[in-house]
Amino acid sequence: MLLKQYKSYFSEQLSSIFPQTEINTFFFLLIEEYLGFQRIDLTLQPTFEVLSDKKRLLDEALARLKKEEPIQYILGKTEFFGLPFNVDKNTLIPRPETEELVEWIVKEVEKSQKLLSILDIGTGTGCIPISLKKQLPNMNVSAVDVSEKALIVAKKNAELNDVEVSFMLQDILKTKVLNSKFDIIVSNPPYVRELEKAEIKNNVLENEPHLALFVEDNNPLLFYKKIADLAKNNLTKTGLLFFEINQYLSKETVEMLKDKGFTKIELRKDLFGNNRMIKASL
Ligand SMILES: C[S@@+](CC[C@H](N)C(=O)[O-])C[C@H]1O[C@@H](n2cnc3c(N)ncnc32)[C@H](O)[C@@H]1O
Repeated sequence: MLLKQYKSYFSEQLSSIFPQTEINTFFFLLIEEYLGFQRIDLTLQPTFEVLSDKKRLLDEALARLKKEEPIQYILGKTEFFGLPFNVDKNTLIPRPETEELVEWIVKEVEKSQKLLSILDIGTGTGCIPISLKKQLPNMNVSAVDVSEKALIVAKKNAELNDVEVSFMLQDILKTKVLNSKFDIIVSNPPYVRELEKAEIKNNVLENEPHLALFVEDNNPLLFYKKIADLAKNNLTKTGLLFFEINQYLSKETVEMLKDKGFTKIELRKDLFGNNRMIKASL
């Protein structure tokens, strides 16, 4: 089959599920991955024939897209902060909102200009510590996660991006005290309440790890409270705590931090206009 013909077939198969622009993005990502083709190559080589082994790969990807599996899991990779990251079903797919949190931290660190130590709690793919280390190579960067499988991916990502991050398996909810002081503690912990499941898209609900996403309705700030308690003991004098937060719980999160003795608390919106991140210090 000609690649051009396959593109029409691919679009037709997905047209009831996705808008055409998204279908085109999927198609071009897949032909780049499997055929090494750029968009322009399709125009330059209109008679390019897809051989059976490549067609099988494209067919498999198409079948997974039809089940609304995220393209990042199909390709096994994504981009965050302009860097390549491996992803699999044990890791949350990094979100653009989290890039904004990283950007905020980079700006703060650049202001202070000293050698800093940083801890990321609930690291998933390692997207936060790895992009921070890449931007700020003098920092000492550590990260923890309760998922051994996520840490395998995170370690590969550190290698892929050629940075040194110290990863540790740790259940933060069971941690009484952190093993050293940090200038920055950052976390994007699980924060989606069960009651918010209705507004979560199927492709997220059915594919992304629930361990990374959900908290119980009756204690949605569980991770934030625990991390704030640990940070009180383990932040240096001028240390900063950064959180990505649940947009619907920004007031409660700020109040909780005040109650725990944090004074300078700044709330910021994400690119979609939702209250999404907090910086706090004691
Ligand atoms: C929302 S995801 C964030 C992943 C990544 N930091 C990001 O921004 O894309 C939350 C992460 O917290 C981890 N996690 C869940 N419970 C945890 C616990 N008790 N201790 C440490 N990490 C935990 C999950 O495995 C998941 O990787």
